[in-house]
Amino acid sequence: MDYVAGIQKLKRERNAIILAHFYQESEIQDLADFIGDSLQLARAAMKAQADVIAFCGVHFMAETAKILNPAKKVILPDLEAGCSLSESCPPEIFEPFRRLHPNHIVVSYINTSAAIKALSDVICTSSNAKTIVERLPKDRPILFVPDKNLGAYIQKQTGREMVLWQGTCIVHEIFSERKLVSLKESHPQALVLAHPECQEAVLRHADFIGSTTGIVKFAEMNPAQEFIVVTEPGVIHQMTRKCPDKIFIPAPPDNECPCNQCPYMRKNTLEKLYLCLRDLTPSIEMDESLRLAALRPLEKMFELTDAQG
Ligand code: 13P
Ligand code: SF4
Repeated sequence: MDYVAGIQKLKRERNAIILAHFYQESEIQDLADFIGDSLQLARAAMKAQADVIAFCGVHFMAETAKILNPAKKVILPDLEAGCSLSESCPPEIFEPFRRLHPNHIVVSYINTSAAIKALSDVICTSSNAKTIVERLPKDRPILFVPDKNLGAYIQKQTGREMVLWQGTCIVHEIFSERKLVSLKESHPQALVLAHPECQEAVLRHADFIGSTTGIVKFAEMNPAQEFIVVTEPGVIHQMTRKCPDKIFIPAPPDNECPCNQCPYMRKNTLEKLYLCLRDLTPSIEMDESLRLAALRPLEKMFELTDAQG
């Protein structure tokens, strides 16, 4: 079965657009109409004109697409493509916790379910978290949910008082500081590019910290020839395409595996993408009252970032 040809044919027949995150397998990225970080994907989904959005990413991303563009059919190749951060924060545990902090502004990372978004004041992504937090009223403390590493990084950057939910990304949490230091020793010219979901001990070795798009752009613009990449290695596919002469070295995790792929992102395959375009299932369905409640903090995010540039 030629899935590539089959997907291209179905895409035309269904009038579908394929949106893919950088952590998808290379074959999926090569078929995508648009590849980006969480924020860019949310914007692309919001603007999509096609009848069907085939979302090659994880569940919270596809759900965000549905919240922002409800008239479209949003399909996800594998409904089980979750996220450890989103799963770390169930609404029935978060809701009473939030009530213990009535004066706090709830800033939720986009890596959360619609139910958590509905309980939040504003959403952020790794690319705009610092700007969002800086633009919140200075006299109010912040409850940051659910990534404790991103939260600690933003807290340090902004100096704002923050209560941090103790969630982590199972991928970024396990990069090894010891192995990173030894990699830097064997590649003294290489710059270290890291995602802010990494632990502080790893981030302190970074020359650049940013979202997946930020990491790709930095490598493109910086004259250095060698980079150690401390995020999911799927991102290296676009880095190599944009800069074929540069060297990208994936940072190793603190276990026996040589690379550190996200098991949720990698649930999507070409075969599942083909099947979901053929059958238009699994799709994201949502109660309208939940959608509207989750839309409010997403709109707040756009308002805080767009209006003030
Ligand atoms: P980005 O918004 O940087 O693409 O991050 C998404 C994500 O899930 C990182 O693990
Ligand atoms: Fe979630 Fe981490 Fe996978 Fe990103 S890499 S989707 S944060 S588990």
